[in-house]
Amino acid sequence: MVRLLVTGGCGFIGSNFIRWLLADDPNVTVVNFDKLTYAGNPENLASVSESDRYDFRQGDISDRDSVDEVLKEFSIDSIVNFAAESHVDRSILDSTPFVHTNIGGTQVLIDSARTNGIDRFVQVSTDEVYGSLGDTGEFSEDTPLAPNSPYAASKTAADLLLRAAVHTHGFPGMITRCSNNYGPYQFPEKLIPLFISNALQHQPLPVYGDGTNVRDWIHVDDHCRGIAAVLRSGEPGDIFNFGGRSELSNIGLTRRLLELLDRPETLIRFVPDRPGHDKRYAIDCSRAEKMLGWKPLVSFEEGLKSTVDWYLQNSEWVDRVRSGAYREYYEEQYGDRLAGE
Ligand code: NAD
Ligand code: TYD
Repeated sequence: MVRLLVTGGCGFIGSNFIRWLLADDPNVTVVNFDKLTYAGNPENLASVSESDRYDFRQGDISDRDSVDEVLKEFSIDSIVNFAAESHVDRSILDSTPFVHTNIGGTQVLIDSARTNGIDRFVQVSTDEVYGSLGDTGEFSEDTPLAPNSPYAASKTAADLLLRAAVHTHGFPGMITRCSNNYGPYQFPEKLIPLFISNALQHQPLPVYGDGTNVRDWIHVDDHCRGIAAVLRSGEPGDIFNFGGRSELSNIGLTRRLLELLDRPETLIRFVPDRPGHDKRYAIDCSRAEKMLGWKPLVSFEEGLKSTVDWYLQNSEWVDRVRSGAYREYYEEQYGDRLAGE
């Protein structure tokens, strides 16, 4: 039996990972350790909350005592670290929690994992550590690190701390770097769920700049399968890129969403650009394909349709997470941008 600690399991990718892993592998128990920030929602795990292979503890990964306690209480042998502040725009408004959790928290987890003799540790990182591409080329695992946003810089720092622990202490750590995820339970601050929920409410869709920035989109299930493959068969120090082989401009994606939702293009608003906005991300994931036998299985067209359906069927979930503090964030991020159009 693998006794796995998942940090940040109440967020978007972590909750999809936990549900997927418990269904996929009967030989794993999962403890979910999550601070429950604005992005953490225990409701995302309602379907497994009664499982005798699942436990939840609320806590902060940068609090050494709480981390030590949970590792000991459940005799944890493996860790997947999803816990992070994850939104670029918020990191531009205030980078403090990004440094606290993404850098400080990751180091505390590594230290506690070392002291407690953890066998395997997967750091869930991002393709944003590589910076931005021009019209051609792809990020490989050997692309130099050149993060541009405070979010990306904090994730890069965490990758380097993990690298140092592997090099110095022989720490059994691996890193995954994935492109933009989409799918069910994504908090509606990221492009796809934000635009779906705005369009459903006949609200404007704020496209930054001219909409020509390009992202590579991967369904969250494909990312989860990749992380599980690294957890099972990665070697200390390994780094794996994951991507969906599905590049799209933001404006192209926005038009496709409006088509699927049967809403008019008059909802599109071109608003002042995100400062330092990375132009293009594209991923070479051939190492994962060769060494892990992994490849993305969900086509973007099918994945986008099923995601739109999920948001249509879960409007109450969206309404609940869009209340309270979300409204203040929305006003701070978009109030002037939309007023100045
Ligand atoms: P999310 O914002 O939806 O969820 C983050 C979770 O971490 C929340 O449940 C939150 O409560 C928890 N958390 C935050 N600070 C914490 C702390 N100090 N201690 C414990 N828990 C804490 O994020 P996501 O989109 O699910 O991303 C998960 C991970 O994947 C992140 O590390 C992110 O950098 C990485 N990633 C995300 C994407 C993407 O497209 N969303 C792509 C590549 C990599
Ligand atoms: P996002 O979902 O924030 O992911 P990331 O910044 O990590 O790639 O944004 C995806 C793309 O969509 C990015 O190029 C920024 C753009 N975007 C908008 O044009 N408008 C928005 O309101 C948001 C949130 C993003």
